[in-house]
Amino acid sequence: MTEYPTADVLVVGSGIAGCAAALAAARDGADVLVATKAERPEQTSSDWAQGGIATTRGDPESLKADILDASDGEADPEAVDVLVEDAADAVEDVLVDTLDVPFDEAGDGFDFAREAAHSEERILHVDASTGQHVLRPFLSFLDERDGVRIAEDTAALDLITDEGRVCGALLDRDPETGESSTTGVPAFAGSTVLATGGIGSLYRRSTNPAGATGDGVAMAALAGADVEDAEYVQFHPTAYDDADPFLLSEAVRGEGALLRNADGERFMPDYHEAAELAPRDVVARAVARERAATGEVTLDVSPLDFAGDFPDLAATCESRGVDWESGIPVAPCEHFLCGGVDVDSEGRASLDRLFAVGECARTGVHGANRLASTSLLEGLVWGLRAGEAATGRDPAVVEPPELLDRDPDLPAGFAEEKFHRLRRVMDEYVGLRRSESDLKRAQSVLRRLKGEVDAYVRTRTARDLYELRNAAVTGLLVARAAGENEQSAGCHYRAEEPVDAGH
Ligand code: SIN
Repeated sequence: MTEYPTADVLVVGSGIAGCAAALAAARDGADVLVATKAERPEQTSSDWAQGGIATTRGDPESLKADILDASDGEADPEAVDVLVEDAADAVEDVLVDTLDVPFDEAGDGFDFAREAAHSEERILHVDASTGQHVLRPFLSFLDERDGVRIAEDTAALDLITDEGRVCGALLDRDPETGESSTTGVPAFAGSTVLATGGIGSLYRRSTNPAGATGDGVAMAALAGADVEDAEYVQFHPTAYDDADPFLLSEAVRGEGALLRNADGERFMPDYHEAAELAPRDVVARAVARERAATGEVTLDVSPLDFAGDFPDLAATCESRGVDWESGIPVAPCEHFLCGGVDVDSEGRASLDRLFAVGECARTGVHGANRLASTSLLEGLVWGLRAGEAATGRDPAVVEPPELLDRDPDLPAGFAEEKFHRLRRVMDEYVGLRRSESDLKRAQSVLRRLKGEVDAYVRTRTARDLYELRNAAVTGLLVARAAGENEQSAGCHYRAEEPVDAGH
């Protein structure tokens, strides 16, 4: 039989959750292969995270209460217990002791920040670029570590299954030699951990980097794993109002920035008693409504020392020609998938030997709306748990799926045109406001689109084709879950009227 790459644990993705899983598995003595589409850390959402990492500051109950409140009552209290109980040790062990992340300090200790829907200042951060200060040292640390191989620019195309268990994934490159393959390279593992991130590329505007095409959710669903809470797609309220948006962290509102409509009126107190610090879904809908009614919403940063408190964001504004002193135009923008591959407290999915962590997983922590600065923490905690639970099984080498080596090039412009259609459908029908008729329309367009893509899958390994297939499958899961859930909750808002422009 041909020699295929094998590992005890195959991790797909290299954000914080994938890195944590790789670290925990390697600490347990496993031979770990990380296959990641990213060529550089900045191609992962974790690297783009701004606000920071929520901590318990000695009071897990208070963080738990805030997470449950923000989730609109839909989070699973037992999953939240896992998060808050592991938080302090995970942060201390990995981020402080192992990686020496240079968190901002004040006086004798850390400079804890506050963000929307948090009842206290508890967020560890490095300016407003926390993600990169965590992820880059994490990847360098793993790179140096025995027992971990990182194959960059290497996509998983499909999971390999045999008799109900997951045995690895078909990759588009040989992870040992880096050679790309038109027939796919099967990589076999004792356990496979999906850590592929979110779905930003299903929408025209997102705070995610390109390539967030729902790969883990789609591959798991196609292999038969359960996916839950897919309707809960979170839109961040304050992204720069442009076709090429950038995030204005909630931490800016935490420091006192205000939201104003085109008439200069501060409107958030009319929507929620916590005003600008209301849960993210409430602020996002209010911003969308005021934008539609008055034409523009701006983030007024005059109450704070913006350049002093947020030098990285001030520099981004300047490099993009945004005059922040006269208010930064903002609009909601796709940010985070709260649901995903359904997993238990160890990250185990419903298929044997399959795990999922980070944004592609549904742990139950976020319910219908994720609390700010809990995503890096969730990725870290579940990554460590899943990495440990994934060890102890030998790779099972089985007959790999057959891909026909035929015409690897797609018709010119195929993926671009289909992605364009998919994003238009997701924006118009599966955005901030949803209605039964829009969701039905979305499902029928997405089903057709998936059929057109499926005609090419299996005869080609072009990465953008699989990304398109994954985006269509995940989009359908989101639209279907949204259609089946007639109850508005958190970021799933059912408004039985046509979608307004701008919403
Ligand atoms: C932000 O900085 O506003 C984003 C933080 C998060 O999504 O948790």
